[in-house]
Amino acid sequence: MRTLTDLGRFAAFSTLFLLLGHGLSVRNLLAPPPEPRLEVVLAGVQQQFRTDLDTLLLTVAEYAEAAAVGAPASTLRTLHLRSRLHFKRCEYLLEYIEPETVKRYLNGAPLPKIEPGVPEVVVVEPVGLQVLDELAFADSLDYGALGEQTRLLYRTLTKVIPYMQGRRLQHRHVFEAAREEVIRMFTLGVTGFDTPGSIAALPEALASLERLEAVYIGYGAHVARGDAALDETIRTAFREGRKLLRVADFDTFDRLAFLQLTADPLLAALPRAQALLGIESVADDKRLARPVNQLATSLFAPDFLNADYYDRLSDSPYDAERRALGELLFFDPVLSEELSMSCASCHRPELAFTDGKALSVRRNAPTLVNSVYAERYFYDLREEFLERQARHVVMDAHEFATDFGSIEARLRQSDTYRLLFDSAYADQPQYALSAWSVSDALAHYVSNLRGFDSAFDRYARGETEVLEPGVRRGFNLFMGKAACGSCHFAPTFSGLVPPFYRENESEVLGVPAAVRWEGAAVDPDPGRIASGRPEDEAYFHAYAFKTPTVRNVTVTAPYMHNGVYLTLAEVLDFYNRGGGKGIGIYLEHQTLPFDSLGLTAPEMADIVTFMESLTDYKQLDHRPTELPRFERRAEWNGRN
Ligand code: HEC
Ligand code: HEC
Repeated sequence: MRTLTDLGRFAAFSTLFLLLGHGLSVRNLLAPPPEPRLEVVLAGVQQQFRTDLDTLLLTVAEYAEAAAVGAPASTLRTLHLRSRLHFKRCEYLLEYIEPETVKRYLNGAPLPKIEPGVPEVVVVEPVGLQVLDELAFADSLDYGALGEQTRLLYRTLTKVIPYMQGRRLQHRHVFEAAREEVIRMFTLGVTGFDTPGSIAALPEALASLERLEAVYIGYGAHVARGDAALDETIRTAFREGRKLLRVADFDTFDRLAFLQLTADPLLAALPRAQALLGIESVADDKRLARPVNQLATSLFAPDFLNADYYDRLSDSPYDAERRALGELLFFDPVLSEELSMSCASCHRPELAFTDGKALSVRRNAPTLVNSVYAERYFYDLREEFLERQARHVVMDAHEFATDFGSIEARLRQSDTYRLLFDSAYADQPQYALSAWSVSDALAHYVSNLRGFDSAFDRYARGETEVLEPGVRRGFNLFMGKAACGSCHFAPTFSGLVPPFYRENESEVLGVPAAVRWEGAAVDPDPGRIASGRPEDEAYFHAYAFKTPTVRNVTVTAPYMHNGVYLTLAEVLDFYNRGGGKGIGIYLEHQTLPFDSLGLTAPEMADIVTFMESLTDYKQLDHRPTELPRFERRAEWNGRN
C-alpha cells in the first residue's frame, strides 16, 4: 500500500515530469520566485525619479533660505554641493526629457546667450546651478546674487518638477537617457565643465553613475536570464567606474581608464541589453539620422557620430561616384578664373588640408579632416550647409574670383567631365552639370574626409595596446586640469557640444595680433559678431571664433584664425597664462577662464604629445593621378 508520503512524492514527480515536458528545467523550478516584471521595474525607476526630484527641491529650498539669511560660506557651500548631487541623480532623465529647460534654467553654462527664435537680438543672462557654482565658491561671497539665484532656481524647480513628475516614462527613455548620461559624464562631467567653481566633478559623476547603476539593477535580473555575460559586463563597468571615481582627485583621475573600463563598455552594452529585453530603440528607425549613432561601441569609434546627419546630403546609390567627381573638382584649378587655384591650393592633403600659411585669405585655412562634423562652418560660424560652402570660395575675389555660370560653361568643354556628371547625377538629369551638382559633388568629397583613426583613437577603442607614455598623462591633463576638453570636446576635440552634438560653440580667447607675452593687442578680426547673421550681433560675440579641432595639429601650423602662433608650445604658453587676459588684452567677455592654469613645462609637453597622437591625415593624403581632359580647350590640359 502506498503511504501518503509516497503519494505526495509521486504527485510531485509527475508534476515535475509534466513541467519538464513543457520545457521547464529543474533549475527553474528550484529558482527563487520570479523577478518583478519589467513594468514593475519601470514603475520603480519612475518612483525613484519622483523622490529624487522632491529631494532636490527640498535641498534647494534650504539653500535659498540659507542664502537669504546670510549663512556662513561653509554652510552655503555644503548646501550647494548637496543640491548639485541631487541634481546629478535626476540629471539623466531631466536632460533627456527637457534638455532646453536644463540648459536655460537649471544647469546651463554661466554665459549670456541669445534668445532663440525671436527676430531681434535679446540677450539672456545665465541662471542656474553653474552660475551658483561660481558664486558659492568665489573668494568673497556676493549674498545679493546668491540670494537671487537660489530663489530663482527654487521658483523654476517648483514649476518644472510637477511637470517632470507627471511624465510617464517608457523603458526606451530610461535606456536612452542612461546612455546619454554616460556620454555626458565622460565628455563633460569629469572635465569639470559644469563645476567651474567647486571642481566637485568627480563626486558628481559618482552620484550620476550610482543612480544609473541602481536603475540598471532592476533590469539586470532580466538581462542576466537572457545573457549572463552581458549582465556581468554591465555590472563590472559600473563597479570599475565607482572604484575609479571614489579614490581619485580631480587632477590625477585617470580619464582614459574611466573611458575604457566604464564609459565605452556601457555605451556598447546598454543598447544590447535594451535589444535583448525587446525594448524599442531609436536605432530601429533608420530614417532618423541622429548625431550620435545608437549602436556605436566606443566614443572613439569611427561611426560614433553619424556623418549623414551633418552633411545633410541625401543618401543615394550614386554617393561613391559623386565623391570621386568631387575629388576631381577639388583638385582642379579650372574652377578658378585664372586657372591658378584649386581648393587644394589652400587645403593641401599632405598638410591635413591646410596650407601652412598664417593667412590664406583673411584667415588661416582650417583642416577639412572631420570638418563635416559641425552644425556650422567657418571661423565665424556663418554657414550652415556644407554644400553652400563652395559658393563662398567661387565668388570671392581673393579666391576663385568667378561664378558658377562660368564654371559650368567651362566644365562643358570637357567630354570627360560631362560624362562623369551625367553618370553621377543620372537620377536628376535636369541638374546633371549645374551649379548645384558642382557644389553637391564637392560637398560629398569634403564630407568624406573623415578621421578617427589616429594612434589615440585606436588605443582608446581597444584596437591596440601601445600608447606613448606621455599620451595618457597628456589626455588626462587635456580633459582635466588644463580644461582644454571643456571647449575642445571629445571625440572630435572641437566645439561640437556633447552629448547631443547638435551645436557648435564659439569662444572668446583674446587671440593677439602678434606674438607678444605682455602688452599684446587683440587681433582686429571681429569674429562671430560680423558673421552677417543678424542673430550673432551681440556684444559677447565680438572676437568670438569657432572652436576648431585639435586633431592633426602636428601639420596644421600656424595656429589660430590668424595663424599667430607657429608652434604648439606657443599655443600652450598662451593658454597657461589665461589667454588674452594674461598677455595684456582685456576683453570682459573672454570665455576662457582668466586664471593661469599653473601647468608645468613637462605637463605642457605631455599635452602636446597627446595632441600629436591625434594624427591620422595620412590615410587621406592622396590626389587624383590625372585631371579630366578638355577636348575643346587643349591649352587647359597642362593645368595642375
Ligand atoms: C584661397 C584659399 C582657399 C581656397 C582656394 C579654398 N579655401 Fe576653404 N577655407 C579657406 C579659409 C581661409 C577658410 C576659413 C575662412 C573663415 O573661417 O572665414 C576656409 C574654410 C573652409 C571650410 C570650412 C571649414 C570649417 O571647419 O569651418 C570648408 C569646408 C572649405 N574651406 C572647403 C573648401 C572648398 C571645397 C574649396 C574649393 C571650392 C575651398 N575651401 C577653397 C581657404 C581657402
Ligand atoms: C574657452 C574655450 C577653449 C579652451 C578652454 C581651450 N581652447 Fe583651444 N581653441 C579655442 C578656440 C575658440 C580656438 C580658435 C581661436 C582662434 O582661432 O582665434 C582654439 C584654438 C586652439 C588651437 C589651434 C588650432 C588650429 O588649428 O589653429 C589649439 C592647438 C588649441 N586650441 C589647443 C588647446 C589646448 C591645448 C587647450 C588647453 C590648454 C585649449 N585649446 C583650451 C577654444 C578653447
